[in-house]
Amino acid sequence: MWTGIPLFPEQASTFAREVDLLYLFLVGVSGFFTVAIFTLVFYFAVRYRRRHADEIPPAVAESATLEIAWSVIPLGITMVMFGWGAKLYFEMRKPPSEALQMWVVGKQWMWKIQHPEGKREINELHVPVGRPVRLQMISEDVIHSFYIPAFRIKQDVLPGRYSELWFEATRPGEYHLFCAEYCGTKHSGMIGKVVVMEAAAYEQWLMGTPTGETMEQAGERLFVQNNCNTCHHDRADARGPVLQGAFGKPVRLESGQTVVVDEAYVRESILNPAGKVVAGYRPVMPTYQGQISEEGVLQLLAYIRSLRERPQK
Ligand code: CUA
Repeated sequence: MWTGIPLFPEQASTFAREVDLLYLFLVGVSGFFTVAIFTLVFYFAVRYRRRHADEIPPAVAESATLEIAWSVIPLGITMVMFGWGAKLYFEMRKPPSEALQMWVVGKQWMWKIQHPEGKREINELHVPVGRPVRLQMISEDVIHSFYIPAFRIKQDVLPGRYSELWFEATRPGEYHLFCAEYCGTKHSGMIGKVVVMEAAAYEQWLMGTPTGETMEQAGERLFVQNNCNTCHHDRADARGPVLQGAFGKPVRLESGQTVVVDEAYVRESILNPAGKVVAGYRPVMPTYQGQISEEGVLQLLAYIRSLRERPQK
């Protein structure tokens, strides 16, 4: 639709068309009123100018119809903007449950990407066409922003907190990936590409170089390496809570609060274990702050998440 108009990048995701339409609607409404207001200002300035020094203008009666019209019409227009914007916003915030999960770690000045099968990439993201993809993202240092113009998506990538993004690519091809948050000297070089492939080609690409272990297996290896399993096991003398079946469920804390065991809570518990101790346990776990990389935490998370499917013993 926009080929030939260099102002717009290609439309290559399921969001692209609607984002553009909403944008054009906003520009159209703003443009229309800007032109209308300026035209009227000039017209009235000339039409009702003072013609002699002692001229006194006639009194003008107010018009209820006019008052109502210029209140109700703008209200209607802004509500359309609000409703349309909110609908699109919610769509863009809610990844479908069947979305392919991938992980992004931003650092000065590169994007590190991991696939569930274990494959890793730097400054490149390979995805299959026509399948929703969900990115869980975090930064190792400062704030970055993951931006794919052709997909019309952009999301800040923060240190210390996960953010999420999803899309479904509609056309095979290569697209720009930018960092859209000024993050230091080489911010402008923090660029990469997104490669959208046909399903079969994507499978082949995944198989291309054997990766050794999946995200979950890497997480399990870390779990054993860091001796997590010496306390988090299902025998009676366990010093830490059992993790089988725990993910996604609420848990009571020593403080009396209840929290849901989600990514943020598990991450916090690895880095600051004494912060929110599960009821019935003592704050004996050492911190792993600085000992496990963000990728490592993501791998551990993938493993702990996979334990959700295993029944609690
Ligand atoms: Cu990272 Cu700008």
